Amino acid sequence: MDTINQVSLQKHIPVMREEVIFGVEQGVRTPYFGLDTTFGRGGHSQALLETFPQLKITALDQDQEAIDYGRVHYAPYLCAERLTLIAQSFHDPLPKSPTPEGWDFILVDLGVSSPQLDNPARGFSFYHDGPLDMRMNQNGERMASHIVNFWQEEELVSLFKEYGEIQRPYRVVQQILLQRKQKLFTQTLELAQLIERVEGWRRKGHHPATSYFLALRMEVNQELAPLRSSMENMMEILAPGGRLVVLTFHSLEDRIIKYTFRENKKWGAPVNKKVITPTREECVRNPRARSSQLRLFQRE
Ligand SMILES: C[S@@+](CC[C@H](N)C(=O)[O-])C[C@H]1O[C@@H](n2cnc3c(N)ncnc32)[C@H](O)[C@@H]1O
Repeated sequence: MDTINQVSLQKHIPVMREEVIFGVEQGVRTPYFGLDTTFGRGGHSQALLETFPQLKITALDQDQEAIDYGRVHYAPYLCAERLTLIAQSFHDPLPKSPTPEGWDFILVDLGVSSPQLDNPARGFSFYHDGPLDMRMNQNGERMASHIVNFWQEEELVSLFKEYGEIQRPYRVVQQILLQRKQKLFTQTLELAQLIERVEGWRRKGHHPATSYFLALRMEVNQELAPLRSSMENMMEILAPGGRLVVLTFHSLEDRIIKYTFRENKKWGAPVNKKVITPTREECVRNPRARSSQLRLFQRE
């Protein structure tokens, strides 16, 4: 079975699906034109298209595999011209809404999808061996192996501290430096097993490499630095009363969203004072929802 077929079999369960629909539904605008900036496996787009029969969605994803999946699995929506798919990053100039007013809503569901995480060939998995890659956009220039093999000791330490929120990554970094003198890292398991040897298992069910891999993934895909300005670009192209709906999975991401929403009064205001989190039932059903947080912004 080729990679794309293997991946097609894997599901991504859309996180806080009902809350996302509710967030769009409660806006002052009837949603006619929506922009889904992180299509993934299309779970949120599909739910929104089913809920609002008049709605048309333009969906982006920087991963060509997600777009290819959409072309195969959402053909009826594509034929009915209710869904348009574009392979691009939401950090690049965004598509204009079909109406001069702007988009009725924009959805951002940050991070990686389950098929990306679970496919060893993409290099995100610390359980299954694969190339130490971690690029969401497979045309991206820099893989995780480059960082592990060529960054200086202090750069690695601060990466793991800042993005991985690991207090003492020193021993792991020293072992990386020693091991790469013998042989450069190419495989995910070479790194995951080194971390496992050095750190040991402290929390049941939580692989010791989790935060190290997260930090590398965020650096490879430049997930944080351009986030604020991209959110501001999105606010600008919303229609009056339109909503920006953002799901995050990392405290640093959420902090950026929280302050960007508060500080852009010229465009509008956050809808809720407090962040929305998934129900306990959802977390049991879908453990990947556990760290998710939802924030909504309404354009003036
Ligand atoms: C959490 S998944 C989205 C899942 C989707 N909401 C669903 O229900 O299937 C995140 C997706 O966003 C994509 N992505 C992440 N950062 C992106 C960016 N800057 N621009 C475009 N797509 C991005 C990833 O490739 C991944 O497919």
